Amino acid sequence: MNIYQLAIRPLLLNLTKKNPEWAHTTTVRSLNWLSSKSLLNKPLRQSLCLDDARLEQNLFGLRFPNPVGLAAGFDKDGVATPIWGSLGFGFAEVGTVTFHAQPGNPRPRLFRLELDNAALNRMGFNNLGAADMAARLKDLQHSIPIGINLGKSKVTPLEEAAKDYLDSFRLLKNCGDYFVVNVSSPNTPGLRSLQDASMLGAILELLQQENDSHKPIFVKIAPDLEWEAIADIITLAKTYQLAGIIATNTTIRRDNLKTQVIEQTGKSPTEEAGGISGAPVRDRSTEIIRYIYRQTQGQIPIIGVGGIFTEEDAWEKITAGANLIQVYTGWIYEGPWMVRRILQGLLGKLEENGLNSISEAVGLEVALLPPKSTPHAISRQSQETQWLPNSGGL
Ligand SMILES: Cc1cc2nc3c(=O)[nH]c(=O)nc-3n(C[C@H](O)[C@H](O)[C@H](O)COP(=O)(O)O)c2cc1C
Repeated sequence: MNIYQLAIRPLLLNLTKKNPEWAHTTTVRSLNWLSSKSLLNKPLRQSLCLDDARLEQNLFGLRFPNPVGLAAGFDKDGVATPIWGSLGFGFAEVGTVTFHAQPGNPRPRLFRLELDNAALNRMGFNNLGAADMAARLKDLQHSIPIGINLGKSKVTPLEEAAKDYLDSFRLLKNCGDYFVVNVSSPNTPGLRSLQDASMLGAILELLQQENDSHKPIFVKIAPDLEWEAIADIITLAKTYQLAGIIATNTTIRRDNLKTQVIEQTGKSPTEEAGGISGAPVRDRSTEIIRYIYRQTQGQIPIIGVGGIFTEEDAWEKITAGANLIQVYTGWIYEGPWMVRRILQGLLGKLEENGLNSISEAVGLEVALLPPKSTPHAISRQSQETQWLPNSGGL
């Protein structure tokens, strides 16, 4: 255990228990301030970063110094982009940004489920809008790839979703290294219905027409999709020449949670709307990564995200087929040294397995297993009626 885990984390968790969103906003503001004082970057970098050629990869035309990225939702407005590389990340995804600025859902909307190493959020894409982000990122140079995660504005009807994504992409297409079509947040009404092949196809068609400089475009999917729906998305990824798939967003499932009551509201997690992140989503997201890797014979890059806290979790996702991984909830719980610890652990795993680079580990475990039949589909009815409390209210 390091000093952060022994002393600072318990203190921070206690101080911020009642209002984790305040803790989050303060962290992002502080990081923004640190970004502006570039003098602080060097010492920070030395203690938090791990540079090793074995961790580097060149994927979809971009160089990733290591495979651990910051997941979307932490830096929603891209206010701290210069600092993420100095904190050890190999890439960072900003957003979700929407074309129209919007306040998100009423507070409280972010809860820690400490017993479960999890969080429950229903932020609802609070952000300053695509034009604001474009103005901020326009002339910035970054040491690591920066992805921009796009969502649908709440005021835009679902039928006009494709145009809404296009309007954001037009403003931002020269500001990011890769782009993500986020159709998987549970906190914007109807958003996940855009994962249906026809709706998603319409969005991807428009974006690729506009994509004159051939920026890599990803789709980020929900862990609660049926296998057939994931297979449809794989087909779309091929049709529209996507760079890859990000698996996964938060889950609307509530099974096997230890937390009985959320302190801030006095209600159980089953009574609170929103998506669960962290340990409870880990296995399902790994299962989906493995499925996509198998179905595509490893031909479509995968960014794996969901419940990564340790090097074991990271190794599991990479050997299941993820070329890159992202962290959010784990980073909150484990603190800023987590990235370096994971990278150190991954180097150890490479040595144990006699591998020379992280790219050799991608899909290793899948290649070694005999092919399995497609798991049974999860019934759509059980997803909608059992796992999504208060869904109508969001
Ligand atoms: C507070 C919070 C806000 C999030 N906001 C977004 C978002 O705006 N866009 C998005 O694509 N994912 C968002 N996510 C999902 C994460 O990017 C990630 O997919 C998910 O949390 C699983 O990873 P984790 O278990 O490491 O947290 C959010 C997650 C949390 C906890």
